Amino acid sequence: MDNKNRAITMRFLAQPTDANFGGKVHGGSVMKWIDEAGYACAVNWSEKYCVTVFMGDLKFKAPISIGDLVEVNAKIIHTGKTSIHIGIEVQTSDPRKNKFSKTTDCIIVFVAVDENGKSIGVPKWEPKEKEDKCLEDYAIKSMNIRKEMEGQLQSCLL
Ligand SMILES: CC(C)(COP(=O)(O)OP(=O)(O)OC[C@H]1O[C@@H](n2cnc3c(N)ncnc32)[C@H](O)[C@@H]1OP(=O)(O)O)[C@@H](O)C(=O)NCCC(=O)NCCS
Repeated sequence: MDNKNRAITMRFLAQPTDANFGGKVHGGSVMKWIDEAGYACAVNWSEKYCVTVFMGDLKFKAPISIGDLVEVNAKIIHTGKTSIHIGIEVQTSDPRKNKFSKTTDCIIVFVAVDENGKSIGVPKWEPKEKEDKCLEDYAIKSMNIRKEMEGQLQSCLL
């Protein structure tokens, strides 16, 4: 499979209903946009229904103002047997200025499932460019670190 379904971009305005108590965009709204963009990207690639299994490495670098133009870029950075790992970058701009800057990034992982909710295989994405190989390496390393840390947490809870 080529890279044609590898990435998607969503663009919209931050709405007054997205505001938190400080008058800026609520972190939960940003997480919802990330989940939606990641979902669209995962389903578009796999042509199957997908569910979120992980969202992490989430950094809020700058606040988003109500009325800002928001761009959510989602692109596949790794595929496993049933999982699709997606890098998300959120950029925003005052629509009068059209000057975008990064406000948030993160990794989100989806798993394709069948009609019984059981995980099923996904098409392989192969990185070709140097940057993509580096991103895939990052996705694999960060997954392995998480698995190790999860094991440690479980042993603390026993
Ligand atoms: C998705 C689900 C069916 C997977 O069940 P499962 O097949 O028994 O799970 P596994 O442990 O075998 O993991 C499946 C894949 O997810 C990956 N995965 C699971 N947790 C992960 C994590 N924290 N980070 C990265 N990858 C993860 C596994 O590595 C595996 O990938 P691979 O098949 O590409 O090697 C099950 O976890 C589920 O239903 N989760 C709830 C999903 C949900 O409700 N999401 C919120 C609403 S959409």
